[in-house]
Amino acid sequence: MASLADVLLSRRVQEMVINGEEPESLYICRHEKQAPSPLAPIPIIDLNLLSSSTEEEEELHKLKSALCSWGCFQAINHGIPSCFLDQLRHVTREFFQLPMEEKNMYRKGVQEVEGYGGDPSPEEGQFLDWQDRLLLTVYPQDLRDTKFWPQNPISFREDLENYTCKMRMVTGIVSKSMAKSMQLEENCFLDQFGERAAMQARFNYYPCCQRPDIVLGLKPHADGTGYTIILQDEVEGLQILQNQQWFTVPTLPNALLILMGDQMEQIMTNGIFKSPVHRVVTNTEKARTSIAVFYTPEKHKEIGPVDGVVHEERPAVFKKVKDYEITHWEYYQRGMRALHIAHV
Ligand code: SIN
Ligand code: FE2
Repeated sequence: MASLADVLLSRRVQEMVINGEEPESLYICRHEKQAPSPLAPIPIIDLNLLSSSTEEEEELHKLKSALCSWGCFQAINHGIPSCFLDQLRHVTREFFQLPMEEKNMYRKGVQEVEGYGGDPSPEEGQFLDWQDRLLLTVYPQDLRDTKFWPQNPISFREDLENYTCKMRMVTGIVSKSMAKSMQLEENCFLDQFGERAAMQARFNYYPCCQRPDIVLGLKPHADGTGYTIILQDEVEGLQILQNQQWFTVPTLPNALLILMGDQMEQIMTNGIFKSPVHRVVTNTEKARTSIAVFYTPEKHKEIGPVDGVVHEERPAVFKKVKDYEITHWEYYQRGMRALHIAHV
């Protein structure tokens, strides 16, 4: 007989909301009710200024300090027109509004990572996320599995193709700027990621929830990526943990949130940049959507601390270990490292 977990895992939270069901116990987390979370004063970095002869230095300084404290920043003037960002938000919503049978044409199989589904099977003692998602490999092109790429909305595939090109451009600027901000050789991170650095896009849908006090959209975790690029819609929900306090990430219409992952923190920068713990909260009023692009070194590439971050006072946290290539690929497959939080 199928267990409750199996039954729940085969259903989307969106269906439960449409049916007016209360969240099942597997979605209930034991987290302390907190006072409303203040807005996080995450630095806003103007990517245009990073190539300006007069203002570059100040912006690089701001960038480094953002990455050493918050582990993320809001990027503006990234070269992606705001109408295109709106278009992406629009197709994301339209996809999740399709009838369930149509979305299920892209449903992920039990052994598969890509496709449409929900939180994968919970690990021992963990609760489930109040989230449905569509996960797609977008780069390199030959690793795409287009059977999972929706045919509807009509422009979805073309928009995603276009967004992938923009993401390649943004990762080029950001990776070089991060290196320059640390006075390192400008290609040092790009060389680690490699020409075929992987990108996966995850389209997230968080339906309204009648119990935001005990149900989370996404459990607290740090990303296992190199770094992650997040496009939020206008509904707040993403929060970052700083000094044991949760802060809400502001929603800025034209900004991309660039958030460091564990590979950047623990390996490539030898602990200098932070990979922040974050989560998504639910609300009773408005469904929320977001698109997260996970940027990760290419498959089977050995990565290690970049030149200049290991010295006597700062020995390597991670060595260049051979089997790390397996670990980082696993990280990439999961997209994140979940922290252990028990459900009731
Ligand atoms: C989001 O919904 O803002 C993205 C969160 C994440 O991928 O951790
Ligand atoms: Fe994340």
